[in-house]
Amino acid sequence: RTVFVNGSYVLENEASISIFDRGSLFGDAVYEVTSVLDGKLIDYDGHMTRLRRSLDELKMPSPASDEELLEIHRKLVELNGIEEGLIYLQISRGAADRDFLFPGPDVKPTLLLFTQKKSLINSALAERGQKIILVDDLRWRRCDIKTVQLLYASLVKNQAHDSGADDAWMVLDGEITEGSSNNAYIVTEDGTIVTRDLSSDILHGITRKAVLKCAGELQLKIEERPFTVAEAKAAKEAFSTSATSFVNPVIEIDGAKIGEGTPGPVARRLREVYIASSK
Ligand code: PDD
Repeated sequence: RTVFVNGSYVLENEASISIFDRGSLFGDAVYEVTSVLDGKLIDYDGHMTRLRRSLDELKMPSPASDEELLEIHRKLVELNGIEEGLIYLQISRGAADRDFLFPGPDVKPTLLLFTQKKSLINSALAERGQKIILVDDLRWRRCDIKTVQLLYASLVKNQAHDSGADDAWMVLDGEITEGSSNNAYIVTEDGTIVTRDLSSDILHGITRKAVLKCAGELQLKIEERPFTVAEAKAAKEAFSTSATSFVNPVIEIDGAKIGEGTPGPVARRLREVYIASSK
């Protein structure tokens, strides 16, 4: 694979960054994951708008213009022949002697991108439906910034797998915030889609925005508010969304069967409509 690092296109085993990179020393880096379908970038503008916001919130300088970033994304898709998969982009504050204080303006941010081929539309998990465990949300309280501080998300995803489940949803004060790497939704008895409202408690999902738009066009009722663990376990349906999983049905939460214990009609419909509208 060809990857992009600090201004150059190089083969992945020839690419390197400094051992002093603040991304690895402090988690001082932000990232985006954009999906590719039929060789085309999905929801690209949304991902780049969020990237700019993450950089601003952390007072991190940008290493490239919007035009340059688009050019790099397009070129990597082309060079690596990505028909279906994703592009990962990461910007760290750069490499400097280890110091909790940010380095001065002479230190340039590290920009890296790589691609990954992946089957996104045909997903065995989306066919079967996910089993979810509930865990305390022990992350820092700026989950709206897409940083690479993913250790807790990784721990709870492994905890889910070790217990025979697929993913973890996080709980703050008795209410669901989001999944380990996705936004969380339930469908109530009367067919209303409920998902937590935007705040610093969750990542403002780009897929969330697009899927809620699809739901609105299908004239489905939507409530953006926190929902409780009890509501989640009693829901008629549940699902998650993310750039790489689109709409992903949930069939079990902490051992409680959701609906019929099979992917529900609202989630399946939204998955179809979102994919069709993205192409
Ligand atoms: N994760 N919430 C969290 C904590 C996430 O990490 C993600 C995305 C989302 C969904 O956001 P979006 O719809 O913009 O992808 C919500 C990406 C896919 C990842 O880390 O791989």
